[in-house]
Amino acid sequence: MLVLGIESSCDETAAAVVEGGRRIISSIVASQVEVHHPYGGVVPELASRKHIEVISQVVRQALAEAGAGDRDIRAVAATCGPGLIGSLLVGFCFAKAFAFARGLPFLAVDHLEGHLESVQLMDDPPDYPLVALLASGGHTEIYHLPSRGVYRLLGRTRDDAVGEAYDKVAKMLGLGYPGGPVIDRLACEAGGDAVAFPRPFLNKEEFDFSFSGIKTAVGRYLAKCGRPVEQVRSQVAAGFQQAVLEVLVHKIVNAARLHGCTRLAVVGGVAANRGLRQSLAERCRSLNLKAWFPPLELCGDNAAMVAAVAHHRIALGGATALSADVYSRRPRRI
Ligand code: KG4
Ligand code: ZN
Repeated sequence: MLVLGIESSCDETAAAVVEGGRRIISSIVASQVEVHHPYGGVVPELASRKHIEVISQVVRQALAEAGAGDRDIRAVAATCGPGLIGSLLVGFCFAKAFAFARGLPFLAVDHLEGHLESVQLMDDPPDYPLVALLASGGHTEIYHLPSRGVYRLLGRTRDDAVGEAYDKVAKMLGLGYPGGPVIDRLACEAGGDAVAFPRPFLNKEEFDFSFSGIKTAVGRYLAKCGRPVEQVRSQVAAGFQQAVLEVLVHKIVNAARLHGCTRLAVVGGVAANRGLRQSLAERCRSLNLKAWFPPLELCGDNAAMVAAVAHHRIALGGATALSADVYSRRPRRI
């Protein structure tokens, strides 16, 4: 069964065709990075306009690359939230219209559930139970998944999301948007010369996070160090990344141990982080745990994860009414 997925919650317009909830036949992602780069963050009004401009073309391309005609598609799914309302509405309404015109079932999919499903699209997906860290520009949360579709929230950020902290620190360092990839690169190249920053909430039984303090500490350091930003960029990037990774690795490993899970997954845009992949893999090796990271194209926002969630919901008889709406914040815990 082929499902068409559509994603437009933030600054990527994406469409994908997925077979059987597992096999990606096509996956198109049109990034708006160029549009938002000069502003150091996503500008919501510009994001919605860009989604409207490209959505038809992106969907057409996904169908063409899949070699799928309208008659081959059995259901249409779109992200319903959380995200930017104006952006969400573009993909959501497009998907509803596409489904209505063809008499297909329509499914609304939570963006976070999509990210958590992304590891299941790997060649060698993890089984359940599983502990997952969802780390993106909007969210930082740890879940225990005892079985497919069951998500128990163990902890979340109390302020900034980790990707958001990366983006804000990059802005302070004059590195543009998005900040994650460039800080990651600088940090990995910096050698041993890292500035020491605090590790908030680094205690054992607590799975909540806080990243705004590290960001403030970076700002304070830059104001006081008495050197031009260009001269301290690498050391600051390395110190910031070290502090963040120590907290992330410590928490997810402890969550897994507390729940007796040997399987860990990291999903969301920050899962692309090279330093995180390395240090978690090392820690897992020493503790006999195994960590899954999706391939880079499935870490960031994409529509294949949306189609995959929808497939499993259809198999359970689920469909969403066309009167359903989008939401900017999750109305309930998934
Ligand atoms: O999941 P995603 O594409 O969109 C959201 O749902 O937010 O995540 C985007 C976030 C951005 O904050 C970006 O800076 C961050 O993921 N990111 C990274 C890396 N690549 C992207 N953060 C750290 N290291 C990276 N290599
Ligand atoms: Zn996302």
